[in-house]
Amino acid sequence: MEKMIVQGGRSLQGVNKISREKNSALPIMATSLLPSEGKTELQNVPRVSDVDTIAEILRKLGLRVELSGGRALIGNGFFESHMVPLVESKKMRASSLLAGPLLAKFGRVMMTEPGGCVIGNRPIDMHLEALKGLGAKVEKVDNQYFRIEASFLKGNRIHLLFPSVGVTENLLMASCLARGHTIIENAAREPEIVDLANFLIAMGAKIKGHGSSVVRIDGVKGLESVKYSIIPDRIETGTYIVAAAITHGDVLLRDADLEILQTEVSKLLEAGCEIRRCDEGVRVASRRVFSPANIVTEVYPGFSTDMQPIMTTLCSIADGQSRIKETIFERRFNNVPELRKMGAEISILDDTLAIKGVKRLNGAEVEALDIRSGASLLLAGLIAEGETSISGVDKIYRGYEDPVLKLKNVGAELHSLDQ
Ligand code: EPZ
Repeated sequence: MEKMIVQGGRSLQGVNKISREKNSALPIMATSLLPSEGKTELQNVPRVSDVDTIAEILRKLGLRVELSGGRALIGNGFFESHMVPLVESKKMRASSLLAGPLLAKFGRVMMTEPGGCVIGNRPIDMHLEALKGLGAKVEKVDNQYFRIEASFLKGNRIHLLFPSVGVTENLLMASCLARGHTIIENAAREPEIVDLANFLIAMGAKIKGHGSSVVRIDGVKGLESVKYSIIPDRIETGTYIVAAAITHGDVLLRDADLEILQTEVSKLLEAGCEIRRCDEGVRVASRRVFSPANIVTEVYPGFSTDMQPIMTTLCSIADGQSRIKETIFERRFNNVPELRKMGAEISILDDTLAIKGVKRLNGAEVEALDIRSGASLLLAGLIAEGETSISGVDKIYRGYEDPVLKLKNVGAELHSLDQ
């Protein structure tokens, strides 16, 4: 398992480029199995390990997938299986996003409870209910797999109890080839939903209302292979804004899109980050002292749960008491015990963090337990006194493209170490 060794105290200066959104690339790659001929070409695909994992799933299903230099070519091979492979399923939650496309294409899928970031229970009950809503039958097999089948999918009005990102994505992918009309009520509104819908529309799907809570899909007979470019990664953008600000640096972020990060940016500005749009991108600096924050995570367009661990690092050195309430996942505080090892004063009160800012953090040996808590520790290492050693960094590479290279690019002192 790889480690990262970070020397704190360097202020970041220079230019960095924001990569494209992992959480958009994954459903879009899953959708690329739908066209019956030709090759889908995806540009600006982030080089993160989750993309490698979904590519491996598609290959095991029988597709030809070439990944090189940020481009993915996904061509229809001869489908050998409709079983989502177990090993890859256990690596990431997004394996559940194969359900919709496989059901739409073959009327059958065998899948297991997905793995991924351990940040709560994360059942797939709403996924299964939603697909039943389109006429699928669901059966548990060997107490391990779900067999989901439908001789054909029929459009329906489906109300989501919670605006789940993944469930909305599975419904979009399944219903675009269903017979008749589907209305998704209380749909998720995240930018990656809009990106997926735009990709489907480019392929010939008929979708309206994406990005709002009510989405209408009119089923079509088939979809075409197309060329498409993924949107910028809003969470990586937020991560590197905080990195530049807490190191009191001065960094230009190219390809950053602040339109899809408005709530988070306003909270970062209030805390003392200086964030300015300019022709070449987004310029980030900061005041000397950060103000405490009061944050509640919410579904989009509220404050993103994925930015919660990142914000916790900033609040741990703010001048005062911050509160961060996590409403999306039951247990998304994996970074807190590790930050405490670095001197942070954080208490967990049910779903809320009470963070008493300290003057400085100290380097320590810490462990990354999921993507965003790993990023939170990496940011803490940038500002800690002395050396921080982070293990479990494979989690960070799941969602961040070349983090060591990008941070070295702007003056950070860190390196990877094979354990
Ligand atoms: C997506 O996960 C993202 N992952 C997550 O990002 C992100 O945190 C989350 O959306 C919320 O924005 C990908 O896109 C691959 P949900 P997803 O379904 O789709 C519960 C990251 O760090 N729920 O909106 O799994 C669930 O347990 C990752 O990049 C059910 O109970 O999120 C959670 O509490 C982490 N039953 C809540 O809904 C279900 O069937 C929101 O989950 C489905 C979800």
